[in-house]
Amino acid sequence: MNQIMLNDISNLQDSHNNTLFTYKNADFFRNDIQFNRPFFSIENQVISPFDLKKFINTERVFDIGSRKYIGSKDNLLPFLEKVIIEAAGGQMESFFDGFSGTGVVAEHFRRYSGKVLANDCLVSNYTVNRAFLNSSRDEIDMIKTASLIEDLNNLEPVAGYASRHFGGTYFTRENAGLIDAIRDAIDKLEANGQITGQEKTLLVTSLLYAADKAANTAGQYDAYLKGMGRESYENGRHRIDANVYKRIRLKRPFILYDGGNEVYHGDINTLAPTLQVETVYLDPPYNSRQYIDNYHVLENISTWEKPAVFGKTRKFNRDGLKSAYSRRATAAAALKELVTSLKCRHIFLSYNSEGIISDDDIITILEGRGRTEIFEKEYPVFGNGAGVSRKRNVVERVFYCKCR
Ligand SMILES: C[S@@+](CC[C@H](N)C(=O)[O-])C[C@H]1O[C@@H](n2cnc3c(N)ncnc32)[C@H](O)[C@@H]1O
Repeated sequence: MNQIMLNDISNLQDSHNNTLFTYKNADFFRNDIQFNRPFFSIENQVISPFDLKKFINTERVFDIGSRKYIGSKDNLLPFLEKVIIEAAGGQMESFFDGFSGTGVVAEHFRRYSGKVLANDCLVSNYTVNRAFLNSSRDEIDMIKTASLIEDLNNLEPVAGYASRHFGGTYFTRENAGLIDAIRDAIDKLEANGQITGQEKTLLVTSLLYAADKAANTAGQYDAYLKGMGRESYENGRHRIDANVYKRIRLKRPFILYDGGNEVYHGDINTLAPTLQVETVYLDPPYNSRQYIDNYHVLENISTWEKPAVFGKTRKFNRDGLKSAYSRRATAAAALKELVTSLKCRHIFLSYNSEGIISDDDIITILEGRGRTEIFEKEYPVFGNGAGVSRKRNVVERVFYCKCR
């Protein structure tokens, strides 16, 4: 592997595209980066790998935030950064993202923290978080992984679990058959000892992002959209996303290696008492829509345990996977138990003003640990989460508790 400076790479010709280059904790092929984009300044070599990610060629690679997810804080990172850095300081020992979802918050605070910890109760989120936050060069041969992704993209659809249950509904029949072929092939590579556990995590992550892009949904899987088979546009009206009809194609995750982070999968209330961290960020669900109901298809693709599915929306039995934070009767007690058990110096909590735990309860719970203040930012959103596409303003709030 070449150790090479960015200046040199930007001058290389496309013929070098099979060479893997190393820049600090990033490895990439020449065409993964759009060196010709305006403002790409490499003159003084001060660009960080985090900055490099702004210039990735999204035709070839994808980043952690390239995904729609209910409640994702991707657009709110500048606000969170301002609040958290001002209160907790510019460099933290450790940062724990306890309800990490996509993982974008943990990923963002990597640059401000000795290590980040991320946890989510969904296997699909755990898989993605592990790929992006916890890869090390020892466990990943990126040249091999890139070539395996090409091989997986050349497979033909087969009849299997996904095509039987999700073909013609959540995905086209062809794409559901490709999910079967690709996911089975990944397990076979692992069974034959051809990939490490971490390489498998990267390949499954690639499949999750590719499948999600081609899903016939409004961004979550509580239901699929009617009209599969119709034209994307009919009589000037948008009927179905054109991506649904495109053959799914895996890209490579753009990985920054550091390996020192910790990624967990489980109930935060069980995990929290076992950790000691400087800063905790909590972004629990705030309404009674269970995340497992909204992401059951991605969960199935991740675990590939092929459970029986039921009803029109093809969900598996999710008893035992429901979150206490999405139940009015249990949410406040769960938050209280969690906040009480945290061993940390700073707690930041994002919570919507229309959430099922009242502001009074939140303040009382946090004040139990230390002085608490609220930061607010108003921002525009489209829709109300129920298919309405009207623009409106919502207020994002972060509660900050400086622990005694
Ligand atoms: C609002 S989302 C977090 C979004 C995330 N901050 C982001 O930017 O992508 C809440 C997350 O909490 C997870 N979750 C719900 N209950 C949980 C629990 N008891 N323990 C751990 N994770 C939980 C859900 O799976 C969901 O991903």
